Amino acid sequence: MPGNLEVGRQKLDWVRARMPVLEGIRARFARERSLEGLTVVGVLHVEAKTCALALALQAAGARVRLAASNPLTTDDDAVAAVREAGVETHAVRGESLEQFRAGLAAMLEPAPDVIVDDGADLVALVHERGQGRGKLRGSTEETTAGVTRLRALERSGELLFPAINVNDATMKHQFDNRFGTGQSAIEGIVNATNVLIAGKVAVVAGYGWAGRGVAARLHGLGAEVIVTEVDPARAIEARMDGFQVRPMREAAARADLIVTVTGRPGVVRAEHIALLRDGCLLANAGHFDVEISKPDLARLAPQRRTVRPNVEEYRFPDGRRVYLLAEGRLVNLAAAQGHPVEIMDLSFALQALSVEHLARHGPSLAIRVHPVPPELDAAVARAALAPFGVAIDDPTPEQLKYAELWQGGTT
Ligand code: ADE
Repeated sequence: MPGNLEVGRQKLDWVRARMPVLEGIRARFARERSLEGLTVVGVLHVEAKTCALALALQAAGARVRLAASNPLTTDDDAVAAVREAGVETHAVRGESLEQFRAGLAAMLEPAPDVIVDDGADLVALVHERGQGRGKLRGSTEETTAGVTRLRALERSGELLFPAINVNDATMKHQFDNRFGTGQSAIEGIVNATNVLIAGKVAVVAGYGWAGRGVAARLHGLGAEVIVTEVDPARAIEARMDGFQVRPMREAAARADLIVTVTGRPGVVRAEHIALLRDGCLLANAGHFDVEISKPDLARLAPQRRTVRPNVEEYRFPDGRRVYLLAEGRLVNLAAAQGHPVEIMDLSFALQALSVEHLARHGPSLAIRVHPVPPELDAAVARAALAPFGVAIDDPTPEQLKYAELWQGGTT
């Protein structure tokens, strides 16, 4: 269904008024026009906050084109508004896999100068086809799953251009992954189901930054939280944060709700699905829809029907029912509106600055995965303080000297 332009404009106005860091960058971009003549393509969750990023890049003089990074996460109203502003889009909510792939492929014609990827699907396509690589100054990557793919290309010596790992910038993962996913995953679960979290046994699979956020928020809402992990250091961290830590086989047998945030496939698979209690909710907040095994679910619980938007009931032959939310895709974008706007302000500010960095320096950068330059991370941190009304102290000359001596040290 085509989006509603008027509603899209309102959504865009709402988020732009709440993204002061990105809007500050947009104003500078409009003065300096540092992306003049370049084509920047984004394979992203095309919702209102993403459209604000597109407008910032456009203000810098870029031709901006967007495609969906997930068939279920596009906001058609926001698409209508950003198209009106001159951004080309290939993204429709609920599009077929063919449409989704066509959107991705369209991003390489004409060849882009910079790619902004969320999950590295476009980077993977460039590497598969070798198409468009000549002109590329580089790519930026938004998410953990995409960074994993980039690192694999780097390790095997196949990486074709410099890539900036936005995900691992401090102002990204410590805020977006933790506070963003922490809030938006729960929003998605509650939106889809209208259930109470208090008193539920909630299993959080994965205790990375996103898992920490989801576990903390579920605990705050009164759930009994069980964490599952494969990494012993993270497992002990979860324990010391006060959570129960159990293998998935034990946790699944007690769960009212399982949320996967691991970035790995087959986290909830046949051996766990067989143990689920009647009524258990299954949600994923990791990038790909592989963490909860849909083939195993369909095999073990073959009777299937949609019972609410974003809720599919799977019935076992013994009568037990379990509910898969948002087809096992990112519940926070498919069943809610993605991360809160203040969070995406920081993440997309980093993206905008990283694109500008590639435009300026891409041709001279080594072909590897680069961190966001620390001065850009620090600039976003400084800019973020004001809207939050947070003031901090200036280090004294003595403290600065001490900091130099302690470079690389950890407190
Ligand atoms: N909104 C736009 N991109 C997003 C992302 N990667 N995660 C959550 N919300 C988003």
